[in-house]
Amino acid sequence: MRPSTTLFAFLSLLSAVNGELHQLIVGTFGTEHLYTLEFDDSALTLELIGNFTTNAASSWIALSHDKKNLYGTSFTASSPAFVSYTLGSATDIIYNTTLALGGNCSSSKAIFVAAASKSPYAVYGTPFGGSAECGSVMSVDENGVLLEVIQNYTYQSTSGVHGMAMNANNSFIYSADDSANTLWTHSVDSTTGELTYVSSIAGPVTGADPRHVAVHPEGQYLYVILEGANELAQYSIDQATGIPSFENVTYSLIPSGATSSSYWSDEVALSFSNNYLWATSRARSTNSTGYISAFSLESDGSIESQLFLNATSSSGGTANSVAPSPFSDQFVALTDSAVGFVQIWQLGSDGASASVVASVDIEDGGCCANAVWYS
Ligand SMILES: *[C@@H]1O[C@H](CO)[C@@H](O)[C@H](O)[C@H]1NC(C)=O
Ligand SMILES: *[C@@H]1O[C@H](CO)[C@@H](O)[C@H](O)[C@H]1NC(C)=O
Ligand SMILES: *[C@@H]1O[C@H](CO)[C@@H](O)[C@H](O)[C@H]1NC(C)=O
Ligand SMILES: *[C@@H]1O[C@H](CO)[C@@H](O)[C@H](O)[C@H]1NC(C)=O
Ligand SMILES: *[C@@H]1O[C@H](CO)[C@@H](O)[C@H](O)[C@H]1NC(C)=O
Ligand SMILES: *[C@@H]1O[C@H](CO)[C@@H](O)[C@H](O)[C@H]1NC(C)=O
Ligand SMILES: *[C@@H]1O[C@H](CO)[C@@H](O)[C@H](O)[C@H]1NC(C)=O
Ligand SMILES: *[C@@H]1O[C@H](CO)[C@@H](O)[C@H](O)[C@H]1NC(C)=O
Repeated sequence: MRPSTTLFAFLSLLSAVNGELHQLIVGTFGTEHLYTLEFDDSALTLELIGNFTTNAASSWIALSHDKKNLYGTSFTASSPAFVSYTLGSATDIIYNTTLALGGNCSSSKAIFVAAASKSPYAVYGTPFGGSAECGSVMSVDENGVLLEVIQNYTYQSTSGVHGMAMNANNSFIYSADDSANTLWTHSVDSTTGELTYVSSIAGPVTGADPRHVAVHPEGQYLYVILEGANELAQYSIDQATGIPSFENVTYSLIPSGATSSSYWSDEVALSFSNNYLWATSRARSTNSTGYISAFSLESDGSIESQLFLNATSSSGGTANSVAPSPFSDQFVALTDSAVGFVQIWQLGSDGASASVVASVDIEDGGCCANAVWYS
């Protein structure tokens, strides 16, 4: 461990609170609404300030690079589709269009959507369940609104890709194939955004089941949530080929001695400064709690240490998704779909724990899936 990394990490932690208002948008698994929340980072309050009725529940939402558009899965449509909204503000949400997933799949639900951070700002979507080997690459118009499916690509017949992430320069995209226990690498055409298959590698053990992924901006490390193994795995990325390799670096997302089959791990995401990584697990029974964990990172993105593993206040339902704030390493939003709430967690000043500082209940049925920070 290099002391400078830790010192920098804690400095960025301490200088974070600005006394400002921040807005988040939250999607749901069941109700056709998008909710807007406002967080005050000095009073530590969270309030519901918007309830937008739309035509699709979105199991996953993603902001465009400039936050002028929001893309969502259509979880209620009878066949997989993706929805596009224009954002005038966090509460000024305007529905634009819905695009059907292309290709020859009989899956019924779209599960995940990711937006490129670089031109041509293509949007990537996948279905889950049933015959779910298809993926869609969608183009956007000059305002960032979804335009058309420009490529139907395929994984394999047993696939179900639950999460994707691009590297910082958008040259590669990684797909976490939960159903086929596989991690896929595709290269990205920098002119069109279309994908070319590079590699597919099996999860580290049978039933590991990669679910969500994140890439460190330096491009050397890929973090993978192994839903079935209830671990966070660190993969190193070959700089020439983009292919990740497993080097047996894993951290448990449930306490030692816990029964792995009672949990399913969920999400991994980098903090504001990229000095921390957050990850969560969910309990399969609503009688148990899930867990939230954070890791400190070296400047190259390798994991320095697991800082803590704290119980969440509910099972998390099908969520317990974490969304680190874009303005401070201290705050992350956590969503629950068992009860229906969004919480803001704050990293303890010693970095050795985290706790809930604000919460809003949204008990409409189906809330809450994932949250994105608009500001
Ligand atoms: C999307 O909605 C915005 C806001 O109403 C509108 O200005 C724009 O023309 C719409 N674009 C498309 C492609 O529908
Ligand atoms: C994608 O698949 C759909 C049918 O599922 C087809 O209508 C469309 O032309 C395809 N798009 C491309 C770019 O191949
Ligand atoms: C779609 O897939 C099904 C099942 O694999 C196959 O029977 C059918 O011929 C395919 N249709 C097209 C248009 O490729
Ligand atoms: C994009 O990042 C990858 C991984 O860090 C690197 O190998 C590649 O050279 C970069 N490409 C460009 C065009 O910068
Ligand atoms: C991975 O590490 C664990 C202990 O952390 C060890 O038991 C196991 O044998 C290692 N596996 C490989 C393939 O090196
Ligand atoms: C959960 O708790 C309820 C009430 O205490 C009990 O009836 C039920 O069997 C428990 N379920 C599980 C899966 O433990
Ligand atoms: C959080 O985890 C830390 C370290 O693992 C532990 O010391 C602390 O008691 C936990 N706090 C709660 C509220 O569970
Ligand atoms: C959101 O709006 C719907 C329809 O107007 C309403 O039924 C629901 O109770 C509202 N939800 C919340 C949490 O205010």
